[in-house]
Amino acid sequence: MAIRSYVGALLLLLSFSSTINAEVFHIGNYGAKGDGTSDISRALLSAWKDACASNTSAKVLIPGGTFALSEVVLEGPCKAPMEFQLQGTLRAPADPSRFKTDGWVVFQHIDGLIVSGGGTFDGQGKIAWEQNNCNGDTNCRTLPFNLRLNFVDNALIHDVTTLDSKQFHVNVLGCKNVTFRHFTVTAPGDSLNTDGIHIGRSAGISIIDSNIKTGDDCVSVGDGSQQIFVTGVNCGPGHGISVGSLGKWKNEEPVVGVFVKNCTITGATNGVRIKTWPASPAGVASDMHFEDIQMNDVANPVLIDQGYCPWNQCQAQVPSLVKISKVSFKRIKGTSASQVAVKIACSKLVPCDNVEITDIDLAYHGPEGPAVSECLNVRPLISGRQYPPACAKVVS
Ligand SMILES: *[C@@H]1O[C@H](CO)[C@@H](O)[C@H](O)[C@H]1NC(C)=O
Ligand SMILES: *[C@@H]1O[C@H](CO)[C@@H](O)[C@H](O)[C@H]1NC(C)=O
Ligand SMILES: *[C@@H]1O[C@H](CO)[C@@H](O)[C@H](O)[C@H]1NC(C)=O
Repeated sequence: MAIRSYVGALLLLLSFSSTINAEVFHIGNYGAKGDGTSDISRALLSAWKDACASNTSAKVLIPGGTFALSEVVLEGPCKAPMEFQLQGTLRAPADPSRFKTDGWVVFQHIDGLIVSGGGTFDGQGKIAWEQNNCNGDTNCRTLPFNLRLNFVDNALIHDVTTLDSKQFHVNVLGCKNVTFRHFTVTAPGDSLNTDGIHIGRSAGISIIDSNIKTGDDCVSVGDGSQQIFVTGVNCGPGHGISVGSLGKWKNEEPVVGVFVKNCTITGATNGVRIKTWPASPAGVASDMHFEDIQMNDVANPVLIDQGYCPWNQCQAQVPSLVKISKVSFKRIKGTSASQVAVKIACSKLVPCDNVEITDIDLAYHGPEGPAVSECLNVRPLISGRQYPPACAKVVS
């Protein structure tokens, strides 16, 4: 008993040792006021600059209170690992025209970063959503994202919330080994283009035990993503957990290794999906696995859509050239909010290879009749329970 508690205490000490040793840079000492109106960007940048220059690991501390913050880039490289501890709320300007760039809080070129503290990044997106015209205009302006991680390695983002971002909540670009844990995303189901966490050109990104409620994809995995792990995530409202859309641009890099496990999706327009544009350049998406997913009232629970063409912005009749292979859907159960519970619609020119469907149990209770499963240009390996019967219909 005594030994066990000694070992426990030691482990506790070890796990907090980086925090204990970190030199603290309190933004109050740089003139920041938590009055909700005074812009703290200069104070925050000064505190960051000093912390970043510290020889030993350093912590920038934002205490409780509400702090107005215009856009900031928190730039590395830093001399030692950094911690950004947000205890209070950071509040963005509500008016998008007050931004010069498309990022609100940007972490860039940092190796070793912890973002923590229980606080909230409040993007105040309501006005931006009302002005958003991206549903008709492909060249629309990118509105500021709450958080951008650009070329950040070895980071842990935990116990913080992003609220009401103007567009995507989080964008992960060019990063390696980043974990989101106990991370919360909150925005209304009808807020436009507010993806929870978007990942691109990054490797070793994990999203664990997190809650994402938003108006677009809870998690979206873009080109050049490798070894992406999503586990214990509650998603919805939103558009589900998506790979893609892929194939919109030239020179997209392959997506390889996406593991979505033990997630619950509730009241979303999609569950787990892979989407590629028609008439696309050649591309690759491989080794993608979706297992132990509970669907509650999800409109398209299981979906591969190689004819993804929102607002008719493409030549829908020209097949996609993104090759999809090594995909599994296993132990997916619950309820569908539309009759087509499973739809695997692959490209006519590059059919899907090596697709496995095991133990599906999805019920639909609408007036058209029971749930159906539709397939096109794919011959999946089918095993276990299949409700609805796998690929009983050809995609119409
Ligand atoms: C930081 O480290 C450098 C190189 O080891 C050393 O020259 C400098 O004195 C250190 N600065 C402080 C404030 O400890
Ligand atoms: C990944 O990042 C975490 C958090 O900074 C770090 O503790 C861990 O050692 C890193 N893992 C590798 C393999 O570098
Ligand atoms: C599944 O995820 C939930 C969180 O949604 C977590 O509480 C639970 O421990 C996870 N189960 C397994 C077997 O990992």
